[in-house]
Amino acid sequence: MKPSIYISRSIPKNIIDQYASKLDIHMWEHEAVPIPHTTLMEKAQQVDGLICMLSDQIDEAFLAANSHLKVVSNLAVGYDNIDVAAATAQGTVITNTPDVLTETTADLGFALLMATARRIPEATNLIKNNGWKEWSPYFMAGADIHHKTIGIYGMGRIGEAIAKRAKGFDMNVLYHNRRRNKTAEKAIGASYVSIEQLLKESDFVVSVVPLTPETSHTFNTKAFQLMKESAIFINISRGKVVDETALLHALETGKIRGAGLDVFDQEPIDGSHPLLKLEQVVCLPHIGSASEETRTAMIKLCLDNCCSVLYGADARTPVLDK
Ligand code: DGY
Repeated sequence: MKPSIYISRSIPKNIIDQYASKLDIHMWEHEAVPIPHTTLMEKAQQVDGLICMLSDQIDEAFLAANSHLKVVSNLAVGYDNIDVAAATAQGTVITNTPDVLTETTADLGFALLMATARRIPEATNLIKNNGWKEWSPYFMAGADIHHKTIGIYGMGRIGEAIAKRAKGFDMNVLYHNRRRNKTAEKAIGASYVSIEQLLKESDFVVSVVPLTPETSHTFNTKAFQLMKESAIFINISRGKVVDETALLHALETGKIRGAGLDVFDQEPIDGSHPLLKLEQVVCLPHIGSASEETRTAMIKLCLDNCCSVLYGADARTPVLDK
């Protein structure tokens, strides 16, 4: 008998076929409807392993009810949706998808920074709505990117990849991280600073930090007050590192210039949310790693991790309980 897994979203058949000889694969087949938590609970009861999404809450109660699961593979590098300590205590291996999404997510982060600074979605909408009536010196003028200072909060793999892109634009790169990243300092020329200095001196503040109890609501009223009035805030990490009420206030009162947001406190965010109404906000539906190539690599890594654990080997990319 092959070991069995359940996938909480629909995955292309051509990928499933590549693993069919090793795994008995079941999955949620409805493209546009997310799996209800109670259904995921029931499905998990019947399998040896699970591939889940960052929107699936794999909390202590879920794990306790499914203590037979040998592996839970998260289709994301971030794993704040999973209680890793509870999983580790009961012997369920947790895996994530580092490395394969680094460059793609950094591309998106930099694209969001550029789109916000140069007002690209606003300019596109203006033309499409027949609003291009004249030319004048400051018509749709944005902020320069080259030779400015970027402050990267969270200097892990994705932070480093953003720093490299920034160097290509002759930017001054500051960073703050729980631990100093000497590689980024030597290889890329990034300078370690306190979070306060980063907020005060950066023209672009980019959040790439994982969501933990320590990083939750880092970007609050006090943080936005420290930032320059010309600063642009970019978030490609998790919505909950930001106090969205404080961000909204900072934008509405001109405390900061603009924001590029790929992530939100509640996802999917409701289209009527006041943040989305502001012209100086560029918003995306959490698509940091969403290129076809990278999503395929992420899915295969999850499947490889399931195979390894279910056939008695070490996972390729386990998440360790710290
Ligand atoms: C991740 O992998 O954690 C990203 O947020 C997905 O885009």
